[in-house]
Order: sequence, then C-alpha cells, then structure tokens
Amino acid sequence: MTAHPSVNHLQGWHAGLLWFPDPQSPHAQHETDGLLVTAREADGIVRIQAIGAYRDLAPQYPDLPTTHWPGLCIAPGFVDLHIHYPQTDVIGSPADGLLPWLEHYTFPHEKQFSDPAYAHEVTSFFLDELMRHGVTTALCFATAHPESVNVFMAEAQKRHLRMITGKVLQDRHSPDGLRDTDTQLSLRQTEDLIHLWHGVDRLGYAITPRFAPTSSTEQLHGAGEIAQQFPDVWIQSHVAENLDEIRWVKELFPEARSYLDVYDRAGLLRQRSVYAHCIYMDEADRRRMAEVGATAAISPTSNLFLGSGFFDYAASDAAGLRYGLASDVGGGTSFSPFHTMHAAYTVARQRVESQGVGRLGISLSPEHLWWQHTAGAAAALDLDGKVGNLLPGCEADFVVLNPKATPLLARRTAQTETLAEWLFAMIVLGDERLIAHTVVQGQTLTDNRA
Ligand code: GUN
Ligand code: ZN
Repeated sequence: MTAHPSVNHLQGWHAGLLWFPDPQSPHAQHETDGLLVTAREADGIVRIQAIGAYRDLAPQYPDLPTTHWPGLCIAPGFVDLHIHYPQTDVIGSPADGLLPWLEHYTFPHEKQFSDPAYAHEVTSFFLDELMRHGVTTALCFATAHPESVNVFMAEAQKRHLRMITGKVLQDRHSPDGLRDTDTQLSLRQTEDLIHLWHGVDRLGYAITPRFAPTSSTEQLHGAGEIAQQFPDVWIQSHVAENLDEIRWVKELFPEARSYLDVYDRAGLLRQRSVYAHCIYMDEADRRRMAEVGATAAISPTSNLFLGSGFFDYAASDAAGLRYGLASDVGGGTSFSPFHTMHAAYTVARQRVESQGVGRLGISLSPEHLWWQHTAGAAAALDLDGKVGNLLPGCEADFVVLNPKATPLLARRTAQTETLAEWLFAMIVLGDERLIAHTVVQGQTLTDNRA
C-alpha cells in the first residue's frame, strides 16, 4: 500500500483490519493480520500513514513502537449523521408519535440547557457514551441556548474529537424558555458561534433550524443568508418524518411545492446540508436533494420507536440521493451503531407501498450497512478522506472490535465463512461490548474491557 507523507511520532497497530479501499463504494477489505501505521503530522493531527498486511508492511518500519491486539480487528470509528446530545435523558419516552413526543417530553427537557453547568454534565456523559459505542464523529443538535453549543464544543475540543454542532433555531410554536424570542438575535448568535468555533481544531459548525414548523419564514431565510456567507459550514434539520408534521407544514407554508421545498426556498438546501428522516418524499424531492448534493440521515431506531415510517432505499438509490446512518437519540433508542445497522436492515426488508404500488423489501448487505455508518456517512458530510475510513491520509480515529466479546458472538462469529457472514453476525448480535477500544488521535479513550 502507498505511504502518506508525514513528519514523526510513528505508531504501529497490529491486529485485523477492516476498511473501505474506495470510500465512495460500499465494498470492504478485510486483512486478518494487518498493520496500521499512524503519525502525528506538522499540524498536530494524527493521521494514518500506511495500512496493509503485517508481513508486507512491518519490514518497512523497523523499530516501530507497536500495540499488538491478537484476535481483535481495527475498523473505522463510526460516524453518526444525526443525534441530539440534549436528548440523552429523553431516550425511551413513549408518545403517540413525533409531535406529542416533542411537546410532552423533548421541549420541556431541552429548556434545562439554559444552565451551562447542567449542559456540561450531560455533554460529558454523552461524549463518554459515544466513545463507549465507538462513535468518533457526530453531526449533533444542541439546543436553542448558545451556551449549549459553547459547552459541547469546549468539551469535544478538550478530547480532540471531530464533532459538528449548532444552536437550534426555533422562534415559534415552542415553549417559553426554548423559543428564540428575537429572531434577528438568534441569527446573530448563529454567526457569532460560527466565528467562535467553526474550523477550530477539529470542530465544525452546523446552522440548525429545528424543523420548518418551529421557524418563521424570516428565521429560515435569515439562516439561508448565513449559509450563503459560509459555504463550508454545515446545515442540519429534519424533513418529512411524520404524516401529522407534513400536514402542519402544508398549512404553514401553502406556497411550497413540498416540505423539502420550504428549505429550498430559504436557501437551506445545498452541499453540506444533512436532513434527518426524508421518509415521505416524492421523486422530485429526492432528485432535487441529489442535484444540489444534500444528504439524508436515516434514523431507523427513531422511526420505529416513534412509528414515523420507513426510509425508501430503492427510491433514494434511483434518484442518486446520498445518505448515511444516524441514531437520532433521543427519538432513537440506542447509541449503538450495531443497533442502528440492524434496524436499518430490518426496515429495508419490509414491503413498501407508495401511491398504491407495493414493492418487496430489499436485503442490504452487511458491507453496505457498515459503510453507511462509516465511510458513507463521512462522504455524506463531505468528510471523506478525513474520517470514517482507514486509508492513508485519514485521521486516526478507530475502533478495535472483539468478535468474541460475548459467548454467543464468539460462537456465532467462529462459524462464519465469509466476510459478509462475519460482519452480519456482529451487526445483529453486537453492542458496545464488541468495542474493545476506541482510539481517537492515537489515544485510547475507551477501554470497555477494563
Ligand atoms: N423534529 C423536530 N424536532 C425533532 C426532534 O428533536 N427529534 C425528531 N426525531 N424529530 C424532530
Ligand atoms: Zn432528530
């Protein structure tokens, strides 16, 4: 394998290896006895310098300080395309669908994030939890309180993480204490936070209108104007998740062709915009997203828990829409990428009915599922070549899998004959016990076996 130019602080990691040789393509490569070489480069970032079979690579690196993990497998850190850190304590709150869930649990809970001390305690727990589950990068909602962003960014920076978040914009149909009472102020706060955090170390900012029903047209268009000024800032929101929500959007924005069109008219649909759910869309919506380079964050555990609906993989592929996987905690029920991949598989198997036409479910391959939560999710964020993979030049954030973590996993993985079977056993039976270590920037942050 080719080497990547570096300066010093070489480190070797000797174990099995799993990666995606072409980040745009869901085909994984597996090396049972591999060597990963990382190096701290001049900008202070630890990147992967080489990857390959141990027998080929080790002779090129004599005296390399090397960590050996026999029987374990190094894989890219998982990338979660849509998660709400302030909803860590909302997981498992039952409701009759999205809108009652927001009103009864989520909005009242998020009010508490006006208190930075409270936000800090939740942020610390949340980031620890992401690490325990092997998630090293996330596109994350904060709350409407600017301090909820400052606290999260500072803590992610301290841990050298690549994280993206933003202040939620919501100036209507929201309770006191969560609602932006001054729309222009909410937009100035967004700009200030971009200046403060975007591009600082490994941090990124996302302009974050919650969803169309909780923003005035003035706020949405103001957010679109900011997006135009900052083309490399991300945009995140929710779209077409729930039928009651869609009816409400139709009433509020009668001029729009579709729910998605509300965002398009406001200048919020473009490259680096990530929309959660994208369930109830037509072909024109999917094609429009594909055309501008916007991406979908598929959130299957959330969609099952809230009874929202099923993402249509076949229609999205036909339109060329890019997508990746997301937990959507706290609508989602788990931080675990294994649970999310498993749910995505189950959902894709279901028969779908659209405009009276039924279609059989599809079987997503395990490599495809894994890609959607690593290299594919990174590509959806425009971060391919940086995270979600182990190719030379990628930043050194990875997980170390223990396929024998539980008696059943050990028994089941030992009986697999192909890479697909092996990955599938882990997807279906896995949880955080499979993550023996999470390594961020060459530092082991999690040791689940301690
Ligand atoms: N739509 C608007 N806000 C939210 C949220 O917090 N979670 C989900 N799942 N959908 C939303
Ligand atoms: Zn969400």
